[in-house]
Amino acid sequence: MKKIMTVFGTRPEAIKMCPLVNELRSREGITVTVCVTAQHREMLDGVLHTFGVAPDIDLDIMEDGQSLFDVTEEILRRFRSVLETEHPDLVLVHGDTTTAMSAALACYYLRIPVGHVEAGLRTYDTESPYPEEFNRRAVEIISSYDFAPTEEARSNLLREGKPDERIFVTGNTVIDALGTTVRNDYSHPELDAAAGRKIVLLTAHRRENIGEPMRRMFRAIRRTAEEHENVLIIYPVHPNPDVRRQAHESFDGCKNVCLTEPLDVVDFHNFMAHSYLILTDSGGIQEEAPALGKPVLVMRDTTERPEGVAAGTLRLVGTEENKIYSEFSRLLDNPREYARMSHAYNPYGDGHASQRIADAVEEILGS
Ligand code: UD1
Ligand code: UDP
Repeated sequence: MKKIMTVFGTRPEAIKMCPLVNELRSREGITVTVCVTAQHREMLDGVLHTFGVAPDIDLDIMEDGQSLFDVTEEILRRFRSVLETEHPDLVLVHGDTTTAMSAALACYYLRIPVGHVEAGLRTYDTESPYPEEFNRRAVEIISSYDFAPTEEARSNLLREGKPDERIFVTGNTVIDALGTTVRNDYSHPELDAAAGRKIVLLTAHRRENIGEPMRRMFRAIRRTAEEHENVLIIYPVHPNPDVRRQAHESFDGCKNVCLTEPLDVVDFHNFMAHSYLILTDSGGIQEEAPALGKPVLVMRDTTERPEGVAAGTLRLVGTEENKIYSEFSRLLDNPREYARMSHAYNPYGDGHASQRIADAVEEILGS
């Protein structure tokens, strides 16, 4: 029996890996071991619970205010012992987190093959996003098999010399996840209370934005909120203490900006489906919102998801106050502009990415 191990540790990795774990576990002829690093704790546990995935191994590394050194060192050390005990035939990592990079490095040191899920995304700027662009490129120096969500991602890998026969274009498992979370009959007291107002969903957590860029972003959003009383901004704040401090300093006392705890993924996806537009510096939300037909103002200078920009549903607005203020106000005040951006567009597959990846894994393992 071939042994496959998946390893992930943060909320976005869990949302995109749980559908794959469940698919792999339904296949005969392979054993699946789920190792979580718990680079995130509550945010990870909530997703595992929602998708009914119980980890076999939990490295439990998260510390409050952890640095990149802490995360890298702890994972390398603890994951090494796991690999030496379990000897998997293939390890699957996801995306661009320090969990993915450190776990892949441990595999490389022990000469265990790595498959990279969500491979080939690029900004070609290692400062943006930081450190994610480095992480995903480092993983792909190591990975033997790459699961690219789109043809564009595949082209990036080919241009960098990765062998065509080891790249599988599968779609993104985030669409598989949306298929199980978004519900027609969804309701929530907070959405009921907001009836008649335009809901704007806001998230912001990128490391390179913490400090002055985030202050500028939040000033722009507060100015716009104060000029539009018919808008309710819902901001589930990331638990990073630096982000929390910044969010409260910027928004306390503003009556139509509502700061909440991070939402459970089912709530978040359905809040997205009920929102008017989305402001974010997140990666995954750039894939989900276009699929739901929601315009997104991306508060970053670069994106590794050019498909949504080309389609017109994502707009890169950077982190300058006046630019965000004018783009946000324009979308709220100009219905024609809003209509141009609010069509559904999904370049990320048909919701069967997990099946394609599991088929490829079976082929790779010869099972
Ligand atoms: C990480 C990823 C980033 C991803 C993000 C998703 C890296 C370098 N960064 O960044 O790519 O976009 O996750 O959210 O891998 N915390 C909690 N509880 C939690 C999660 C986090 O309290 O469940 C707090 C802790 O104080 C922790 C801090 O948030 O130290 C930062 O978490 P960390 O994983 O280091 O960085 P993120 O900004 O979440
Ligand atoms: N998300 C969530 N609850 C929230 C905010 C976001 O479940 O309160 C989900 C969102 O739908 C997406 C993922 O978390 O699937 C994005 O995570 P994040 O923005 O933290 O990371 P990134 O994608 O930028 O790496």
